[in-house]
Amino acid sequence: MNDGYLTIALPKGRIGKTAMEYMEKLGIFDVVKQSSRKLIFIDETIKIRYMFVKAVDVVTYVNSGVADLGVVGRDIILEENAAVYELLDLGFGRCKFSVAGFKGTDLHPKNAPLRVATKYPNVARRYFKRRNQPIDIIKLNGSVELGPIAGLSDVIVDIVETGGTLRANGLEVLEDMMEISAKLIANPAAYRFKRSAIRGITDMLNERVEKNA
Ligand code: PRP
Repeated sequence: MNDGYLTIALPKGRIGKTAMEYMEKLGIFDVVKQSSRKLIFIDETIKIRYMFVKAVDVVTYVNSGVADLGVVGRDIILEENAAVYELLDLGFGRCKFSVAGFKGTDLHPKNAPLRVATKYPNVARRYFKRRNQPIDIIKLNGSVELGPIAGLSDVIVDIVETGGTLRANGLEVLEDMMEISAKLIANPAAYRFKRSAIRGITDMLNERVEKNA
């Protein structure tokens, strides 16, 4: 949006909570009341508009240019494959993409493609394609760990943070795929035309990231 405000899309949910705590510490987040159900907040003093969206939709808002900046896990950037700039690794939301399942699961079944349940079909497809392995994707929207337990899939491709969900369901990591963390992303056009405002935010965040490192 081009109305003199910098618009930042922030995720609701788990990563959103950490993002809010983090930005509150920076003192750039005083207008936001965590308990509120409001989805949009405006800080008139520094001309920032915050929009709270579902984590998976942050990339959509930034990609379309409705939001100039966004905070989002790299898992979602990779899944959406969007043309956004990754400006900064925010240093929180650290987890990894893994292939998981029951201990001893054969990842190369002889007579059929490996059945993979996941919320991240594009990430999973790319990963197995790189090693020329045929798979069948079963797209789920949550509780992915049920896939192997219910016999819906052989394995899952999912994010693992503490490993608690896998353990609680008798599953384990069979292969680590890649590390992920929260990123500050920018719409490419906004990055060009609102450079100094964006610079102000990134400098502030960068300083914080370095202090926390
Ligand atoms: C995510 C992910 C795993 C879990 C991993 O799910 O899909 O299920 O967190 O975290 P852990 O290693 O710390 O246990 P989320 O909590 O977002 O819920 P969902 O199943 O509804 O997608």
